[in-house]
Amino acid sequence: MVATAGSLEMRSVTKRYSVDGSPLVALDDVSLAVEPGEFLAIVGASGCGKSTILRLFAGLDAKHDGAVLHDGAPIVGPSLQRGLVFQEPRLFPWLPVERNVLAALRNSHLDAHARRSAVRDHIALVGLQGFERAYPHQLSGGMAQRVAIARGLVNRPDVLLLDEPLGALDALTRAHLQDELQRIWVRERTTMVLVTHDVDEAVYLADRVVVMSPRPGRIRDIVPVTLPRPRDRGDEALLRLRAHLLRTLAGTPQHAGLALHRAA
Ligand SMILES: Nc1ncnc2c1ncn2[C@@H]1O[C@H](COP(=O)(O)OP(=O)(O)O)[C@@H](O)[C@H]1O
Ligand SMILES: [Mg+2]
Repeated sequence: MVATAGSLEMRSVTKRYSVDGSPLVALDDVSLAVEPGEFLAIVGASGCGKSTILRLFAGLDAKHDGAVLHDGAPIVGPSLQRGLVFQEPRLFPWLPVERNVLAALRNSHLDAHARRSAVRDHIALVGLQGFERAYPHQLSGGMAQRVAIARGLVNRPDVLLLDEPLGALDALTRAHLQDELQRIWVRERTTMVLVTHDVDEAVYLADRVVVMSPRPGRIRDIVPVTLPRPRDRGDEALLRLRAHLLRTLAGTPQHAGLALHRAA
C-alpha cells in the first residue's frame, strides 16, 4: 500500500519565546518536509527545539513565523489526523486500559460499536490483549507506553508524532518497543515523526534522521538511512551511519564530550 496522505511541512519557520522579557529563538528559519508514510527521526541536544517542532506539527502552538502544513493545508489547531505520544504515558489512573484508549475517541465520528472494535484492534496492535481491564498502576512502564501508542493510533491518524516516547524506559524494554514501533509502522505506514536523544534508536528506525543544533534551534543535517527492514542492530552500514551522526552532533561544542566518550 502506498500512503497518499500524511505529509507534513515547515516552510521558513521561526519560533520565538519570551523568557523573563528577553527573546529566545527556539527555531530559526527551519524548513522541513516529511513524506507521506515516512519514518522521520529528529535528534539533537536538549533545548534545540525538537519538542517545539512536534508542538507546531501537532497544532498546539499557532504563534510562529512561516508556514506549517499538513497535506498542503495550514495547521491551525489539534486534529484527530495527528496522534501524539509523549515521554510519560499520561494515562487516566482511574480508568482501565480499554477506557483509556476509548477516551481518545471522544471526538470521533464512529458509533459505539465501531469504537469498541477500534479499541479492541488497537489494544491487539500494541500486544496488550488480556490487559483490557487492567488499571495503569498494574502496568509496567513499557506496557503503559504501549497503551499511549494505542491511544495515539486509535483515531487512525495520518501522522503519529512521538516525543521521546521510549526515553524513560530501561534499555531492554526500549529495544523491545523499538521493534514493536517498527512492526506497527511496517503494517500501518502511518507517517511517524520521532523525537529521540538516542542516535541508535534513530538509525535503527528512521528513513531519515534530522540532526538539530541549539541556540538558536536549526537543522544541521538530514541523513538518509536506506537500509532495508527489518534492520540488524549490529549491521556495519548502520554502525557507520551512527558514527557519522555522532560526529555531526559533535559539531556542537556541548557534544564534544559525548563524541570522545563514544570514540574511547
Ligand atoms: N513555553 C516556553 N516558554 C519559554 N521558552 C520555552 C518554552 N518552551 C520551550 N522553550 C525554550 O525553547 C527552546 C527549545 O525547547 P524544546 O523545543 O523543548 O527543546 P528540546 O525538545 O529539543 O529539548 C529551549 O531553550 C526551551 O527552554
Ligand atoms: Mg523535548
